[in-house]
Amino acid sequence: MKGIILAGGQGSRLYPVTISVTKQLLPVYDKPMIYYPLCTLMEANIRNILCISTQKELPNFKKLLGDGKQWGIEISFAIQNKPKGIAESFIIGSNFINNENVALILGDNIFYGIDFEEYLSLDDKRFNGAQIFVYKVPDPQRYGVVEIKDEKVISIEEKPINPKSNFVATGLYFYENSVKEIAKTIKPSNRNEIEITDINKHYLNQNNLKAKILKQGTVWLDAGTSTSLYKLHIMFKQFKKDKAFK
Ligand code: DAU
Repeated sequence: MKGIILAGGQGSRLYPVTISVTKQLLPVYDKPMIYYPLCTLMEANIRNILCISTQKELPNFKKLLGDGKQWGIEISFAIQNKPKGIAESFIIGSNFINNENVALILGDNIFYGIDFEEYLSLDDKRFNGAQIFVYKVPDPQRYGVVEIKDEKVISIEEKPINPKSNFVATGLYFYENSVKEIAKTIKPSNRNEIEITDINKHYLNQNNLKAKILKQGTVWLDAGTSTSLYKLHIMFKQFKKDKAFK
């Protein structure tokens, strides 16, 4: 399975901090934010990773991450000209994905959990459809809301005004290779983005969208606001056992 980290966007919820420094390069305690999603892909045993960002910011990511050999992985880079939507990752990354399955992680999504590696493990050869990872939150209307019954996904809606559940899709997704073609067929939404939720709806309609609830004790935060960033600093100061990058 190949991996993509999407690290573009404007980070406008963190202004003025992100006027001159891109969000995914800000520190989360003692490491740049992007190390955490990178580490999550490595925990899923993914070794070939594409980092997508804006033309302006890409040189900084290259400077920080290099070609990945220092960690025994391969990192390459691609540009997203405009923030046209999370699902554009599969169009930009089409040649990179080639004929393999692909995992996508958002560059501001941070997961931390004991035995997370085991939890993420999958049989790449037998993998089919789509797999999302869901988490219970008090404010679901900010996210892609997932309605689950008897471990099956019933519906998924992007930022609904009246959420049907408190479970939301985190920014980590596994897809079979067909996602490359499906992404090309998705029409932009009202906010003019190719929505990842529309990709997930496609697999749901085919009865092939699986949702794994994050284990109790696992923490997930998107570091898009000052409050979540602050919480993450405190949390990692306490944990301080980020073994992959020691
Ligand atoms: O964090 C999980 C949520 O991420 C999901 O529950 C939602 O279903 C999904 O749509 C997404 O919602 P957000 O509102 O958080 O997405 P946002 O537009 O903030 O983008 C997330 C990150 O991806 C952010 O760091 C910027 C980056 N991004 C976003 C877009 C739309 C890009 O690099 N390029 C883009 O075109």
